[in-house]
Formats: sequence, structure tokens, C-alpha cells
Amino acid sequence: MKNAFLNEYETRKSLAEFVLRAPRLSMDSKCVEFEIEFSKYQHRNHSVLYNSGASANLAILQALKNMGKIKEGDAIGFSAVTWSTNTMPIIQLGFNAVPIDCDPTTLNIMSHNLLDSLKIEKLSVLFITNALGFTGDLDTIKKICDENKIILLEDNCEALGTELPQGRAGNFGLASSFSFFVAHHMSTIEGGMVCTDNEDLLEMLKIVRANGWDRNLSAVQQRKWRLKYGIKSEFDAKYTFYDLAFNLRPTEITGFLGLEQLKYLHENVSVRYNNYLRFEKIIKDNPDLILLDRSHISLLSSFCLPVLCKSPILKQKYLDQFSGAGIEIRPMIAGNMQRQPFFSKYVKKIYELHGSDFIHECGFYSGNYPELSEADIEIISSCLQKY
Ligand SMILES: Cc1ncc(COP(=O)(O)O)c(C=O)c1O
Repeated sequence: MKNAFLNEYETRKSLAEFVLRAPRLSMDSKCVEFEIEFSKYQHRNHSVLYNSGASANLAILQALKNMGKIKEGDAIGFSAVTWSTNTMPIIQLGFNAVPIDCDPTTLNIMSHNLLDSLKIEKLSVLFITNALGFTGDLDTIKKICDENKIILLEDNCEALGTELPQGRAGNFGLASSFSFFVAHHMSTIEGGMVCTDNEDLLEMLKIVRANGWDRNLSAVQQRKWRLKYGIKSEFDAKYTFYDLAFNLRPTEITGFLGLEQLKYLHENVSVRYNNYLRFEKIIKDNPDLILLDRSHISLLSSFCLPVLCKSPILKQKYLDQFSGAGIEIRPMIAGNMQRQPFFSKYVKKIYELHGSDFIHECGFYSGNYPELSEADIEIISSCLQKY
């Protein structure tokens, strides 16, 4: 990754001007404006801006717990191949973290993986990750969740812009999270969002974001909370804390950058997609590599270039090719989460996760960014060749 933003110079320049003239830099009208514009983009009723994607995930679970929708000890399924801060809040808030296997052909939980898990665990929530821009068969997964009264949540931090024939990734569950950390589809340096159509959840997400108070709720919502707890004066209301919360607030800089970068999102997604199509062609012709199945996805918003080899020995070979050419490479997100030290410290039950183990042992990824030059793309393409 070369830059913090798409259109780096223009963005930094307008940020500098904004900082000079903004009347206030703590969370205010720019954050609200960005939330409104993001909801329009994502086709969801509501968005709540946070200081990171990790905070967004934490807030969703704390909000559902505050609302009594889930309680300590409930089983929450999650994609075994995901990022640490998707899984950590499940443990931190006292739930039972149940890893669900991911299918190597899509890198994601598919409906058959969920059905296999349901044979051995009863889930209250499925907090699925739409990994690396790809998704599982979300429509079928949603139907299974509905039939089994499982709350579906989506960690969409890596798949902003991906579309399925049945809707946008991030719009299948009760709520979804997004990350705007540098190198994601949109960057606000640090930042995250939760989208939902549910009014009660929206209210609690705002309470959880800032200290447990009602200051960011609408006047109607404030009246409801104040009446319920007999808070009569504005003076008391300002320092009444209704439920468990954190301080996960963004700043006006987050809101400003979000509005700026949203303008370039379509361009960003389309350049990444075209780059991915070029890499995909080479992968298709290389018998050492596995072509990822995106037949259920109508628009892939490519997060990176995932490389899945047919064996660990081949993975080493391609790792050497990439690192030999000076290309930065990473594991497939965090690999199988069960193998991470924090996870085995807190969760003692081990599940057989053959697909996720395969992804762990045979996969890695490198960047796919809009500012890759023709020369960069050619170097990456040559690393994907079988020699
Ligand atoms: C799947 C997933 N969830 C959550 C996060 C956390 O987002 P952030 O870095 O904004 O905290 C990331 C970060 O890359 C991620 O990939």
C-alpha cells in the first residue's frame, strides 16, 4: 500500500483546509452527514460511525446484550477464517465462541458449513465474515438463520461494495460492520461503521458508542429514556448513564474523510475488480493454484489478491516467488482462528475445521490497490505463473 487514501494529494489538501476552518473537531455534524450518505450508499436505513471496525464489532454485540437479545454463555458462531477483532468481542463479552468452518473454494462459510455446525451446536447468533471481498451463499445462509431463530450479523469490513443477486454484502443480517482503516476500500485513516434497519438497535448502538448516555439520540428517543428512569431535568439527563458502554467515538476528521472518500468508492471498487480479473486469468491457467468460486457473486469488490495453492509445499514455492520479487504478503487474514494463541487460551473446545486448516496451510494474500501501476501488475502476474 503506497498511500493512506485514494486520490492522496487532493484528500490531504482538503483535510488540511477542513482542520483549519472546522468549528469543532470532536464528533459532530460531519459524522452525522457521513452516516447519512453511507446509509444511502449501502441502501440501509441507519448507520452509526465508530473509531474503528473493531469498535463496530464490539458495539454490535454489547448493544444486543444490553437489549437482552443475547446473554452471557450464548453460542455465537463466527467464520473460522477472519480477523482477530471479529472473534475477540465474542469472548470479551462472555459468549461462547463457536468457529464455523470456511470452504476453501470461496474462503467463506457456505450454507453447508453452517448446516454441519448446527448438527453439533445450537447457535444464538451467526457473526459471519465476508472475507476478502468474497462471500458465502448469504441468501441461503440467511434462510437457515431465520428458520433456526439465529440472529445473523455480518462483519463486512473486507467486502464493502460486493454485490450478490439478492443484495449487497452487509445487507443480509440484522446489522453489519465496516472498516475504514488504511488499505480498505475506503480509508478514514481509522474508522468503522455499523449499518442496520432496526430502530431499537440503532438507539442502543449510539448509547454504547458514547459512555451510556442519551446525548446522541433524537429528542423523541431521549424523552423515552428519561421518562423510563424518571430523569426530569436537562442537567441530570446530561450525566445519566443508561446501560453498559464504551467510548468508541470517531472525530470530525473521520466524518470529513468518509465523505471525501465515499466520492471515490465506485472508482476504487472498479479498479480493484479489473486488476483482480487480470490476476484471476493467470490463476485459472496455473494447475498449482485453486481458482476461487465467485459464481454466486454479481460484483466482487476485491479486497486483495488471495492466492490458494494446492499444497503447503506449493504455498512455500509461491511465497518465495512473491517475497523474492519484493511483494508484501500476508497469511489468509489470521488463518484458522483456533490456532491463534489468544483463542486457545480462552476457548478450550476444539472443532475439526478441515477447510479452514487447508486455507491456513495453503493460502496467503498480497495487495490489490487502485494505485498499482502497470509495472506492479506485471510483477505480481509473473509471480502467479508456474515456472
Ligand atoms: C474482517 C475484519 N473485521 C474487523 C476488522 C477490524 O477493523 P479495524 O482495523 O478498522 O479495527 C478487520 C480489519 O482489517 C477485518 O478485516
